[in-house]
Amino acid sequence: MRVVNLGPDPSLAFRPELLPSDGKEKSDFRNFVSGELYERVFNTYRLMHTHQTLDFVRQKHAEWSGCTHARMTMMESIQCLDQLIDESDPDVNFANSFHAFQTAEGIRKEHPDKDWFQLVGLIHDIGKVMALWGEPQWAVVGDTYPVGCHFQNSIVFRDLTFVENPDNKNETLNTECGIYEPHCGLDNVLMSWGHDEYLYQVMKFNKCLIPEEGLYMIRFHSFYPWHTHGHYTHLCNDKDLQMLPWVKEFNKFDLYTKSTELPDVEELKPYYQSLIDKFCPGVLLW
Ligand SMILES: [Fe+2]
Ligand SMILES: [Fe+2]
Repeated sequence: MRVVNLGPDPSLAFRPELLPSDGKEKSDFRNFVSGELYERVFNTYRLMHTHQTLDFVRQKHAEWSGCTHARMTMMESIQCLDQLIDESDPDVNFANSFHAFQTAEGIRKEHPDKDWFQLVGLIHDIGKVMALWGEPQWAVVGDTYPVGCHFQNSIVFRDLTFVENPDNKNETLNTECGIYEPHCGLDNVLMSWGHDEYLYQVMKFNKCLIPEEGLYMIRFHSFYPWHTHGHYTHLCNDKDLQMLPWVKEFNKFDLYTKSTELPDVEELKPYYQSLIDKFCPGVLLW
């Protein structure tokens, strides 16, 4: 796998004043306490935290990882997201395809030299197509967290939504490490099933040329308990910790470019098509 030389700490390059934000402060994003979308968001997490067990995740890996569901190009898959509104997101009430271009354009402004990073911004949420193929949103969208071990307090709605989850009452699973060895590495940890892991599997299956930093962004961008709250480091190995600054760097754009100011997608398509042609060309298996 290709690892690129990324230079100094990526966070030093971030200039939030370049991003559209509807006048929102950073602290206004990810409000899980109130807001007009609260009920929809809470309900999505309630279902996720009730039904996502270790067994459920194993079953979803078996079901989706073979990439036998569709054949389409990357640009076609982005267009699919025109039909999807993410019901776990308290900041967005428009089609996910706009969020794809908003994220990519934010990265392009700050990192004009890193085409692979811009492309990751564009494609990171495409795994949400599972919701258009019959998977309920609670098994597609939202923050992720490890299953098979104790559910940490930094998971959203932790106190309210795990009451009916059988794994939450299972004494073997409900320890700090559960079924895992300390510092086993996130590659060996089963995350709650969703669009991050699915797209990672699609990228690997189709042998896409995105560097490892980008694959980590794709696979763990929704793992807020880790990248934002610093939990679950007892499961991380050195490689995970080395990649963490890049996942955090990605998160700034994923979150703070969310704006009702929608980009002109048709105008942007030729540029992003050239990145797709470079890193994940042709028809892909999904
Ligand atoms: Fe996402
Ligand atoms: Fe996103």
